[in-house]
Amino acid sequence: MSDSFEEKVRDAIANPKNMGEMSDADAVGTVGSADCGDMVRMWLKFSEKDGRKVIDRASFQSFGCQTAIAVASLATELLAGKTVEEARSLGAGDLSEPLGPLPPMKMHCGQMVEGALREALRAEAGEPAGGAIEGPGGPAAATLLDSLATSGVSAGQKLRIVKLD
Ligand code: FES
Repeated sequence: MSDSFEEKVRDAIANPKNMGEMSDADAVGTVGSADCGDMVRMWLKFSEKDGRKVIDRASFQSFGCQTAIAVASLATELLAGKTVEEARSLGAGDLSEPLGPLPPMKMHCGQMVEGALREALRAEAGEPAGGAIEGPGGPAAATLLDSLATSGVSAGQKLRIVKLD
């Protein structure tokens, strides 16, 4: 059993769960950080259980930071079976809980995963995006918008792109 934060991250990324595009997803949320240049995208597939809408499965892609990959992997496992309301109530600290408290320098990595989840939930609900949408030539174009050409977003899926502060 690993104890240090670094060891827990290393364990989580050694065999990341639910990593990759989800071709039949119902909603997609993407966030990017202009500061570190990383991005996290989360796909959600919903189903009905006992008359309630639940997250059947979640998957992610993260380009860059190992902590974001570790948190996203843990988050996709945590989200399976959660109702939309339950998922909305989860913050970065809940999603990264198995790793223990995130170091101050890594707080935004967990917030990126939370942001991707929130944007996917907003997209599913038809709500306005939670932040500014980067246009062509915007500061994140090189790392975020350029990636859309190979993003795996299919017709019928809902997509949100939000730049985190
Ligand atoms: Fe940017 Fe971790 S350093 S998401």
